[in-house]
Amino acid sequence: MTLKISESLKLPCGVVIKNRLAKSAMSENMGTSFYPGEEFYHCYKKWGEGGLGLAMTGNIMVDSRHLGEPHNVVIEKNHKNYDKMIAGLKKWASVIQETGMDIWPQINHPGKQTPKFLTPEPVAPSAVALKPPLDKMFNTPRELSEEEILDIIERFGYAAKISKECGFTGVQIHGAHGYLVSQFLSSSSNQRSDRWGGSIEARFNFVKEIYLSMRKNVGDDFPIGIKLNSADFSKGGFTHEEAIFVTKSLSELGIDLIEISGGTYEKTTMMGNDNGKPVKESTRKREAYFIEYAKDIREHIKCPLMVTGGFRTLDFMEETLERDELDLVGIARPVAIDPRWPNQLLDNQRIESKVKPLTSGFKILDTIFPLEIIWYTYQIHRMGHRKDPQPKKGVYPIIFQSAWSIGMQSLRRVRG
Ligand SMILES: Cc1cc2nc3c(=O)[nH]c(=O)nc-3n(C[C@H](O)[C@H](O)[C@H](O)COP(=O)(O)O)c2cc1C
Repeated sequence: MTLKISESLKLPCGVVIKNRLAKSAMSENMGTSFYPGEEFYHCYKKWGEGGLGLAMTGNIMVDSRHLGEPHNVVIEKNHKNYDKMIAGLKKWASVIQETGMDIWPQINHPGKQTPKFLTPEPVAPSAVALKPPLDKMFNTPRELSEEEILDIIERFGYAAKISKECGFTGVQIHGAHGYLVSQFLSSSSNQRSDRWGGSIEARFNFVKEIYLSMRKNVGDDFPIGIKLNSADFSKGGFTHEEAIFVTKSLSELGIDLIEISGGTYEKTTMMGNDNGKPVKESTRKREAYFIEYAKDIREHIKCPLMVTGGFRTLDFMEETLERDELDLVGIARPVAIDPRWPNQLLDNQRIESKVKPLTSGFKILDTIFPLEIIWYTYQIHRMGHRKDPQPKKGVYPIIFQSAWSIGMQSLRRVRG
């Protein structure tokens, strides 16, 4: 019996992805002075050899003054280690090419979702702070000027050009999870009255210009994708109807792949929970969190669709592909604890992923502390150091280690 997940997929630009299993972006937070070092090659080699057809990198920033995490990789013209940035990216792409897996840098700008110890003066479409209790950890952003908006658009285009020149096989815009592109799309974060704000058509302009800038730089035969929210799931945020408008418009412009997720830092729906609190019973029972939303979107687009969040069994992946609800199955946490899982699935082994919800046992801590992110980043770092992940590792050693490191970084910033 031929499995649906083992079929190849041809993208509108002509590029073929060898199977239907795609790793969604997971920030590695292990860049050395904003460029990728050998930890990246080891980690992605494990994923490439593990059978994935495509892997998005963790988010790569377009401006070293605006980071999501302290050890992000950055692609920018005036990178302080420009030659090392280029050499690191080239080596990363070439090592992975040998595995047959496609690898696309995920390009991002955090906007206001940058902790205050990293960016004292964040920027955003409008000066709207994150909601309590997050406003304690993230400073209120200042509104971007027209000139700065145009500069950021150019930076996204530049990052796409460099990605192609360095040997990556596509790029993805991070338009989800409450970062800058997502902030422009949301009417609660974007309260501008110029050509970048107001109606959904105007709020869409920022990501439209980013896409066009990238396309101009990479040509028509190079894949460009985007990760978008099916909705923000918060009051006044990007709605599902708006998501349909945006995905339809990008599809008409010629985008090659749309990945659907959901949520922001204020509402962590993308991880299948609500800032530590469990989500609705119906969502928890359903294996893929956003599949119902993705079904609506699929009706309006002509490009391939990837859906990410919650896939844990081969049966469910096969069912959704069989029903033609999506083209690529997006997986993240399962491959952070077991990079070999895709090959087992492709081999028709019905092994359920061991991913389980993580909790510190304290509601307040779960609300403010990104436990899932930190615990899985630890697993990625192990792979980067040529070690196997430790799925049974407890949460407390990781919480203490991370609190210590954040404390030291804040202290360093305070002391200059
Ligand atoms: C450690 C970690 C880092 C992540 N970093 C990113 C990121 O850089 N960009 C992104 O779009 N999503 C990021 N995510 C979210 C995942 O891509 C994915 O949407 C989410 O984990 C749900 O998929 P899953 O249930 O298969 O894990 C991250 C998730 C984890 C666990």
